[in-house]
Amino acid sequence: MAHKVTLIPGDGIGPEITESVVRVIEAAGVDIEWDRQMAGIPAVQEYGVSVPDQCLDSIKENKVALKGPLTTLVGKGFRSANVTLRRKLDLYVNLRPVKTIGGVPSRFDKVDLVIVRENTEDLYSGIENVISPGVTQAIKVVTKEASDNIARYAFEYAKANGRKKITLVHKANIMKISDGLFLKSFEEISEEYPEIKAEDKIVDALCMNLVIDPTQFDMLLLGNMFGDIVSDLAAGLVGGLGVVPGANLGNDYAVFEAVHGSAPDIAGKNLANPTALIFSALMMLRHLKEEEAATKIWKSIVVTLAMGHHLTKDLGGTLSTTEYTDELVKEISSRT
Ligand code: NAI
Repeated sequence: MAHKVTLIPGDGIGPEITESVVRVIEAAGVDIEWDRQMAGIPAVQEYGVSVPDQCLDSIKENKVALKGPLTTLVGKGFRSANVTLRRKLDLYVNLRPVKTIGGVPSRFDKVDLVIVRENTEDLYSGIENVISPGVTQAIKVVTKEASDNIARYAFEYAKANGRKKITLVHKANIMKISDGLFLKSFEEISEEYPEIKAEDKIVDALCMNLVIDPTQFDMLLLGNMFGDIVSDLAAGLVGGLGVVPGANLGNDYAVFEAVHGSAPDIAGKNLANPTALIFSALMMLRHLKEEEAATKIWKSIVVTLAMGHHLTKDLGGTLSTTEYTDELVKEISSRT
């Protein structure tokens, strides 16, 4: 029976890379009925809102979505569509595996990190005020409930996936109350998982340690803002934003998307690397219990990249989005 999945092409490079994913999944023989929905700029143009009700309803019905990037409209009265989706669907986990892939030029070998980012609060709560002309404030919200939930998720993930160590990243030396609570929740929950090593690092020191030797870390657990920044840094350790996937997960719904944004500088030019979104789609296929197809696509990507001459421009190659996708489809079809 076909899986029903909501597909949000998004904007910028989104439509180009989602089309690539659809072709790759089709080549692997997985039967998916895509329910295409608008969000972001196209939705604002069509409906005047960045996340229309029908998009949310579709995800609620299908439970699973694959999403291209959405440009955050600046200063136009619209709340970020990404933040809206994560909040309205209570997608409190942002899971971002960061792994070295053979053939992808990168600074380090053997990076195998899992980043878990809290997805619903922190400075992303969007509570900002002008106190008086020239004086503003942004409020960082941290609750015990959300901190406990994300810590528990991280430990359960570690247990289920054979991970040995979680490093909690914070700035509790300065934000003693808010990050202090995040840290305390982690320490309390860690006591329930004595088999998994729990440590903490201040975010600035963590960044330095990550760029010196990322292999010393196993899993990182971060709040929303540091999670956003450190994930992009970590992507830079393994070849860049073109190859790092992600998933937004809650108790009821799952929305899979790459770490990168809409890349307006290369949008519409057939230059984007679709690998990050394809890897996100592999996480989705595993979520849908399509293990065999996910493995077949994974092996095909690894083989294609390892050849060294089938690379998109961001990785130092010359292939366009469609040419690279053609190579992947060829490789996948040869395994069918
Ligand atoms: P970005 O991630 O879109 O781009 C940063 C740089 O990486 C650019 O030079 C871009 O060309 C390159 N890049 C990104 N993805 C690539 C890919 N797949 N292949 C080749 N090169 C790639 O970050 P930026 O420019 O800061 O954000 C653009 C817009 O995207 C903003 O409005 C931002 O808010 C939004 N955004 C949306 C996200 C989402 O929908 N989940 C996540 C991050 C940013």
